Amino acid sequence: MKLFVDTGNLKEIEALAALGILDGVTTNPTLLAKESGDYRQILKQICRTVQGPVSAEVVATDAAGMIREGRDLAGIDEHIVVKVPFTKEGVKACKTLASEGHRVNVTLIFSATQAWLAAKVGASYVSPFVGRLDDVGTTGMTLVREIVDIFDNYEFSTEVLVASVRNPIHVVEAARMGADVVTVPAAVIEQCFKHPLTDIGLERFLKDWEKAQAAKV
Ligand code: G3P
Repeated sequence: MKLFVDTGNLKEIEALAALGILDGVTTNPTLLAKESGDYRQILKQICRTVQGPVSAEVVATDAAGMIREGRDLAGIDEHIVVKVPFTKEGVKACKTLASEGHRVNVTLIFSATQAWLAAKVGASYVSPFVGRLDDVGTTGMTLVREIVDIFDNYEFSTEVLVASVRNPIHVVEAARMGADVVTVPAAVIEQCFKHPLTDIGLERFLKDWEKAQAAKV
């Protein structure tokens, strides 16, 4: 399963890229609005750092506007994946952009039918938002299982990109279900690294080693 980080923050991206664990980045208007500076420059630097797919979202709500913005975003760097919201206009825009050879991530997916329709118009990725489904009292990961099953049945090449991830359990479940990609906030990636028994174990190894060395002199 590929790991993307869900952020527009270059420092977070650089730190994760340096660890060698990062396959790509997803941004959205909310995330980029938190960063200062020109969004085109930020996206360009992110692409240069990650050297993998970087989702950048349109803000137009009509198909013509989405197509115009999508072409413009795709022109920033070869790594840009155009993100469009799942609406009828977004579906139309996805069809056109994909037929022009642009990669499209259809976002704000909350049902299996939405994912299936996006795959039919050539989306490279669909982004089910699992955390936001959990927030309204449904089980977000059930949707991921449904989409993975449907895409497997019909051999769609569209990748399932699990988004709105809130904790390491979402990450583990996504991997067990065979999702293609999980996009994770940096704080949750940090939680994926941590285990208190690793820290305690290392501390004990080092203490025992020190004690043994001291006894030899
Ligand atoms: O990138 C979109 C998605 O991951 C948003 O997550 O936490 O705002 O629901 P969240």
